[in-house]
Amino acid sequence: MEIALSVIKADIGGYVGHSESHPDLLAEADSCLAKVKRQGLLIDYHITKCGDDLQLIMTHQQGENNEQIHKLAWDTFVSCTALAKKLKLHGAGQDLLADAFSGNVKGMGPGVAEMTFEERGAETVIIFMADKTSSGAWNLPLYKMFADPFNTIGLVIAENMHKGFAFEVHDIKEGKKITFNAPEEIYDLLVFIGAPSRFMVKAVYHRVTKQIAAVSSTQRLSLIAGRYVGKDDPVCIVRSQGDFPAVGEVLEPFTVPILVEGWMRGSHNGPLMPVSIADSTPTRFDGPPRVVALGFQLSEGKLIGPRDMLADKSFDNARQKANDIADYMRAHGPFEPHRLPLEEMEYTTMPQVMKKLAKRFIALE
Ligand code: F6R
Ligand code: MG
Ligand code: MG
Repeated sequence: MEIALSVIKADIGGYVGHSESHPDLLAEADSCLAKVKRQGLLIDYHITKCGDDLQLIMTHQQGENNEQIHKLAWDTFVSCTALAKKLKLHGAGQDLLADAFSGNVKGMGPGVAEMTFEERGAETVIIFMADKTSSGAWNLPLYKMFADPFNTIGLVIAENMHKGFAFEVHDIKEGKKITFNAPEEIYDLLVFIGAPSRFMVKAVYHRVTKQIAAVSSTQRLSLIAGRYVGKDDPVCIVRSQGDFPAVGEVLEPFTVPILVEGWMRGSHNGPLMPVSIADSTPTRFDGPPRVVALGFQLSEGKLIGPRDMLADKSFDNARQKANDIADYMRAHGPFEPHRLPLEEMEYTTMPQVMKKLAKRFIALE
């Protein structure tokens, strides 16, 4: 049975500030999708949140980039925005960058990750969602899952993974894409994906079966809007077990709280802390950035689950480490590398301060 799995998300209002989603918004989204499920457009859905981002996880048979599915997500966000405005939540409707829907939510503000596949005998999927960071945050974890034998022992000792995976990388500044084969092209691959603010892993494929293994959202809000409008807060779908990395191999990268951009005002680097859905409440200095993971088994497209995968005790050390790194990074205050380099800061007063002081600058001898 061919199934499409769509994860479409948007920040349509924060509670309190940018720290969390109001439960009434999740309930509103649930009632919007329940109606459509009854009408048959969706096989199943699950509504969740990561920090201030509302997440719609949907299964259906309409394929990717389907207008009806995207319109459903857009209309749901519009309904939730009306409620967010009524509750005067912070930044109500902030990710809905267009006045009206025009065929596809891509480029209109919401983040999208979608894949279509033939459902396996046992179809394990893990959906990662992050808050207070940008789309490139998945580059390092995806590299570890699908190309690093120190993370994924299956690459070494499992016959069905030994030929490796192919990485589709997008250059979001130039609007181009390229595919690299791992393991033989990993040095070339790393030249690009090691610069995650520009080059992003969009998808990963099995080298032999050509099956889709992972897909991420690569929308960059600031590039779409031409100004800072909030962080991308990306999502990523990963298939697991069998021909793909085991659940434990998929989760292992998150034992290291890597540094990502997006903390406070989208202008600081900070550790990506793995947490449960309940703990995706970035409050300290509006962070530190969070990642959550929901696991499902699919059964004829029905979402069996979720299991809150990063709630597990084995991620306690990573959380502790993230808090320690957060203390260390915060000690730098307004200095780089805690603060992002000038050209990457989302907020800046530099032009105004420069203008005010222009006459006081004198040439060096
Ligand atoms: C970071 C983030 C927050 C806001 C900050 C200011 O991605 O969302 O740190 O940038 O709270 O928010 P505004 O400008 O909405 O008052
Ligand atoms: Mg927000
Ligand atoms: Mg957010």
